[in-house]
Amino acid sequence: MSQNEGKRRSGDQAAEYVTPGSIVGVGTGSTVAFFIEALARRKHDIAGAVSSSEQSTRLLEQHGIPVFDLNSSGPLALYVDGADECDPHNRLIKGGGGALTREKIIAEASKQFVCIIDASKQVPILGRFPLPVEVIPMARSLVARELVARGGQPIWREGVVTDNGNWILDVHNLRITDPVALENDINQITGVVTVGLFARRAADLVIVDGVLRPNA
Ligand code: 5RP
Repeated sequence: MSQNEGKRRSGDQAAEYVTPGSIVGVGTGSTVAFFIEALARRKHDIAGAVSSSEQSTRLLEQHGIPVFDLNSSGPLALYVDGADECDPHNRLIKGGGGALTREKIIAEASKQFVCIIDASKQVPILGRFPLPVEVIPMARSLVARELVARGGQPIWREGVVTDNGNWILDVHNLRITDPVALENDINQITGVVTVGLFARRAADLVIVDGVLRPNA
């Protein structure tokens, strides 16, 4: 199966978790684009969506799906999003698309987080994919030095400005054996907005190539 077909199947399958009449949390990326297409096919069934990025907001609006602010929607029953890496305990690296901060906020505000991936995203240990860290621009070098001290090689994603007006460092060469500890640690560095480790709040369910993966 091609990677794209795996993403499409996962996006389609996630639509099965949507409750009629609800507001759905929507992530960002090419896999989520398939989910939005599936959501659009039943848009009269749902109240709308809370979006994690300007990119997803545009797609949702193109499909005529109302987009709500998280402050007015309140807690959500369901959040659906992709990932760059997923370990056997549903812990994730996210932020390849630069939307990690809003994604983490919506994941936190949602009762169920369904992660949709193709098989290539599954890894035994997180860290092959460079770990995105969103930083306040003036703190870029300060944070980079702190990440080097932790054994990583941060590379500035030059030219990219997040939806929140911040910058991204992609940290290479980390072998993440304790994702919760590293998430807590990096979040404490002054100038860090969000680290793209989703371990404290991991996914509840993972759909791989359209098939629900049994939880470890
Ligand atoms: C965006 C993300 C995406 O979920 C992640 O990059 C996966 O994207 P894709 O579905 O295009 O492979 O975290 O910030």
